Amino acid sequence: MTTSHFSLTNPFLPAARRTPPWSGGAGRRVCFCTNSLETHQAAPPKKDVLTSKDVMEADKKVIVGTYARTPVVFSSGKGCKLFDVEGQEYLDLTSGIAVNALGHGDPDWIRAVTQQANTLTHVSNIFYTVPQVELAKRLVSCSFADRVFFSNSGTEANEAAIKFARKFQRFSHPDEMHPPSDFISFSNCFHGRTMGALALTSKEHYRTPFQPVMPGVTFLEYGDIQAATELIQSGNIAAVFVEPIQGEGGIYSATKDFLQSLRDACDAAGSLLVFDEVQCGLGRTGYLWAHEDYNVFPDIMTLAKPLAGGLPIGAVLVTEKVAEAINYGDHGSTFAGGPLVCNAAIAVLDKISDPSFLASVASKGQYFMKLLSQKLGSNSHVKEVRGLGLIIGIELDVPAAPLVDACLNSGLLILTAGKGNVVRLVPPLIISEKELEHAAEVLLKCLPALD
Ligand SMILES: Cc1ncc(COP(=O)(O)O)c(C=O)c1O
Repeated sequence: MTTSHFSLTNPFLPAARRTPPWSGGAGRRVCFCTNSLETHQAAPPKKDVLTSKDVMEADKKVIVGTYARTPVVFSSGKGCKLFDVEGQEYLDLTSGIAVNALGHGDPDWIRAVTQQANTLTHVSNIFYTVPQVELAKRLVSCSFADRVFFSNSGTEANEAAIKFARKFQRFSHPDEMHPPSDFISFSNCFHGRTMGALALTSKEHYRTPFQPVMPGVTFLEYGDIQAATELIQSGNIAAVFVEPIQGEGGIYSATKDFLQSLRDACDAAGSLLVFDEVQCGLGRTGYLWAHEDYNVFPDIMTLAKPLAGGLPIGAVLVTEKVAEAINYGDHGSTFAGGPLVCNAAIAVLDKISDPSFLASVASKGQYFMKLLSQKLGSNSHVKEVRGLGLIIGIELDVPAAPLVDACLNSGLLILTAGKGNVVRLVPPLIISEKELEHAAEVLLKCLPALD
C-alpha cells in the first residue's frame, strides 16, 4: 500500500474523501503525468485518459489563480511541436516564453539530464559539485564575466544582482554612512515579480497591489540618454538595470548610443551597469549575448530562461571587482546550481555557443523578419515588424488577443507583449525555415481576426 500524499486513495484522508471526486470513482486510474521518456519520443502521443476539459476544471479548483491560461493542456513535445492531451499538434513559437531554445525533447539534453539524474541530483551548496563548476567555467570563458552566482530563475538572478550592487557600493565606500543605494530602471522593462525585482519592473499595476516595494527606484524613458546621465551623475545610484532588448515590454531594442552612454556615466560615477539578458540572452538574437551587437559590456549580467533548456535556473555573471565585495553568507540558495540543472545547462550552452548554431539563428531570424514584413506588412493593422534574430515583435494598432486565439485554433502558438498590442515570436532556436514559412502563412491567414 502506498502512503504517498499524492495517492488517489490517500490513507491520511477521512474515508469519505479518500477517493477524490475528479478521479471518476474507485478503480478508475487517472494519470496527470504523460511526459515519460517513451511518450516524449513518440509523436504524436497516445490519447490520454483525462480530457483537457477535466484538467482545466480541476486546475480552476486547486491552483491559485495567478495565471490567465490559454485553454489547452499539453502532454508532450518534440522539436518545435507540442501535442495536447487530445493528440492535437501545435507549432510552438513561444518556447515556454523563450525557454526551450533546443525545442522539446532534444536528445543531448535528455542524455545530460538522465545521466545526471542517475548519478547525483542534489547535495546543496554546502558541497562542491563538478557540473556547477564546469558550467561556471564555460559561462566565464564565453563572456565578459569573471565569476558566476547561480539562482533558480530570472527574478532571483535580478534579486541577487540588486544585493550585489548594494554590497558593492558599501564595499567601495567604507567610510560613508550612506553609500549609493538607489537604482535606475526604464519604461517597458520587466525584471521579475519578487519585492526587489518587482520594484525595478515598470508596469505600475504589477507593483501597486503590493506596495510598498523596495524604495529608491527611478523609472526613466528607455533610451533617454540625458535623463539617465544626469541621474547617474547625482552620485546616489548603486546600479542601472537595463534589458539590451526588451522582451515583455514589446520587443524594443536599445540603441548603441544609449547603452554606451549608460556605460560611460556609470564608469564616471562608480555605479554598476546591469544587463538583464534573461529573455534576450543566450543565442536568441543570433549573438550569444545580446550586448555583443552593441559592443558595450556590463558589470553584471543576469540570465535564466533557456539556460537549462526548461529546468529552472538563473545565473548572475559578474566582474571580479563586483565579486570582491561579496562575502560568505551575503546570498545563497538551497537548490541553485545543483548538479542536475547544471548538467542540463552544459548541454544547452555547448550547443548554443557553437558559432555555426548562432549563425543559423541570425540567418533564420533575418529570413523570418523578411517573410513577415512581406506577408503581413501591408495589412492596415500591422504597424511594425521588429527584433533581432529569433526575438521578433509585430506591433499592431489593435489588441493582439484575437490573432493569438485564431492562431491557436489553427495550430500555431504565439505570445503577446507590450500593452497587449504586440505579437511576440520567440520560437525554439532550432526551428527550420520550413516551419517559419508555415508560421508566417498561418499568421497571414489569421490576420482577418483583427478586423
Ligand atoms: C527580462 C526578464 N527579466 C526577468 C524575468 C523574470 O524571469 P523568471 O520568470 O524566470 O523569474 C523575465 C521573465 O519574463 C524577463 O523577461
